Amino acid sequence: MVSQRPRIAIYYASHDGQTRKIVDRLGEFLGMRGVGATITDLSASSSPIVDTEADFVLLAAAIRYGFHLPAARRFLTRLRAVVPEERIALVSINLTARKAGRQTAEGNVYLRNWLKRTGIRPALAVAVAGRLDYPAYRWFDRMMIQAIMSISGGPTDPTTVVEYTNWSEVENLSQKLTNLVTSTP
Ligand SMILES: Cc1cc2nc3c(=O)[nH]c(=O)nc-3n(C[C@H](O)[C@H](O)[C@H](O)COP(=O)(O)O)c2cc1C
Repeated sequence: MVSQRPRIAIYYASHDGQTRKIVDRLGEFLGMRGVGATITDLSASSSPIVDTEADFVLLAAAIRYGFHLPAARRFLTRLRAVVPEERIALVSINLTARKAGRQTAEGNVYLRNWLKRTGIRPALAVAVAGRLDYPAYRWFDRMMIQAIMSISGGPTDPTTVVEYTNWSEVENLSQKLTNLVTSTP
């Protein structure tokens, strides 16, 4: 008997490109483990079709000023209506997750609030650190991020560019997803 390769439908909302980079790498890691991934940019359409044929659905969203990007929040509402929560994973991309212990719902305020506000209990929910790129920000955004960084003990030098994403965490995530997708009946 030929067993079919499991497949994860990945949807993402990215403003500056780091979330896109993360899901692209995640897709590569999944491929190495024999799991297929289809990746959809939520900004490409006003109401992207929810892939109910996939074995699992992952939604990754960047944080801006305390909230996940609106396209991801809207999509989650539609996703929940047609896919059971035990086949959904949520990934929050933000700068708070650069710190130890801030990758879980308990430790990451944005992820925790997202779950609380929506009441969803997905199979997996994690926060992954994004990228800081002061030179690329507009004046106002740079000032705001500098203020946030100053409070949280991060860099404030306006020339700073740091990719905080921990790629081995992304690889671990691909392992967890592979376990979920191969154990779900
Ligand atoms: C205008 C702006 C606001 C942000 N607000 C927050 C925030 O409130 N909390 C946080 O942890 N990170 C915040 N970030 C950091 C982003 O979440 C991080 O840069 C992430 O990599 C963005 O993902 P993207 O490149 O896919 O858009 C902000 C970044 C920008 C540019």
